[in-house]
Amino acid sequence: MCSQTVKRYLWQDIILFDGLKTHVEAMAVLVEGTSIQQIYPMSQLPAGLGDSVDKVFQGGVITPGLIDCHTHLVFAGSRADEFEQRLEGTSYAEIARRGGGILSTVSATRAAAEQALIDATLPRIQALIDDGVTTIEIKSGYGLNLEDELKMLRVARRLGEMLPIHVVTTLLAAHALPPEYQQDADGYIDLICDEIIPRAAAEKLADAVDVFCEGIGFSPAQCERVFQAAQHYQLPVKAHAEQLSNLGAAALTARYQGLSADHIECLDEPGVAAMARSGTVATLLPGAFYTLRDTQVPPIDLLRQYQIPMAVATDGNPGSSPIFQLSLMLNMACTLFRLTPTEALQGVTHHAALALGLSQTAGFLSPGRAADFCVWNVNHPAELAYAIQPGRLKQRIFNGEITA
Ligand code: NIG
Ligand code: FE
Repeated sequence: MCSQTVKRYLWQDIILFDGLKTHVEAMAVLVEGTSIQQIYPMSQLPAGLGDSVDKVFQGGVITPGLIDCHTHLVFAGSRADEFEQRLEGTSYAEIARRGGGILSTVSATRAAAEQALIDATLPRIQALIDDGVTTIEIKSGYGLNLEDELKMLRVARRLGEMLPIHVVTTLLAAHALPPEYQQDADGYIDLICDEIIPRAAAEKLADAVDVFCEGIGFSPAQCERVFQAAQHYQLPVKAHAEQLSNLGAAALTARYQGLSADHIECLDEPGVAAMARSGTVATLLPGAFYTLRDTQVPPIDLLRQYQIPMAVATDGNPGSSPIFQLSLMLNMACTLFRLTPTEALQGVTHHAALALGLSQTAGFLSPGRAADFCVWNVNHPAELAYAIQPGRLKQRIFNGEITA
């Protein structure tokens, strides 16, 4: 490729949130080809630089491309009926015990062909792209057998090939007990460990392995077997932990150097301390807290005290969080969990990258990194958390390409 074809763009007079902090001075970002060439305070911008680039853009707030580090985006069907049941007072756990909940989505997802699943997921992933997301994690977990779990992961990979977004996949076969194994949970764990994880690893379909450690999910002992199998195939682990009760899932995850413990409304101090020792990220999911009308707030002060990075994600799924707007989570993390706007922004950028093991490549803006960032039509980064206002994304830059 000859050098004249490499485009150079300059954004100047911008306010920069780099993934950790907002710079006090007005800044400029120079992009060359697919990566960030340089970031300057405006006071140090080389004279004449603007004349040497293909285009100069003026003003706005720049953040890293947003990262949604916990989603269940690939699924078929709808659970609007259960929404109504919950409004009438039936709990999420009770609906699950009656065979609804996750299992109702499992039936619809098993019945859907790969293309139908792609078509069903496209509007949801497009909504996130339009909201500034450039990296997304997508879990399986509505197949619950070898064939359908792999099908979900293939769909997730395919979406990443089709669209301007990085897709990270997570195998969540240990999400619920499938109907065929209702009386044999350990038999299902055998299937996960002996067949599903090995195949997902061999076909390079999963970047990590997740479990739902809960009374209505799997016991810590069962989750530990899944972690051991994942570790055998060098796949990092994470968990849906202490969402509805405290089973010590976060500490278990920490023992396996887990990337993240997610939900964690019922997390206690020993669990927090264990996460601190292993560098496990706390992923907060205010959308599920809101949808389930939960009242137990995650132990934010303890997480701060132990300096645990807090990520924030949508948990986008058909049951506990039918929410496909990451910018809304910025507001909810502040309003419901009392995060500061800066903490919330770190949660969808640098800390979300840490939760995915991508901190060297995503979620932080510095020279030499891929040019994945957003330009927002606001005066200060805190406004992104303060107001619930779609439509403020001015430009979305993915691998140096301006895609919005
Ligand atoms: O993260 N907790 C379990 N899994 C999802 C819910 C999935 C569903 O209800 O379909 C969650 O909240
Ligand atoms: Fe989840």
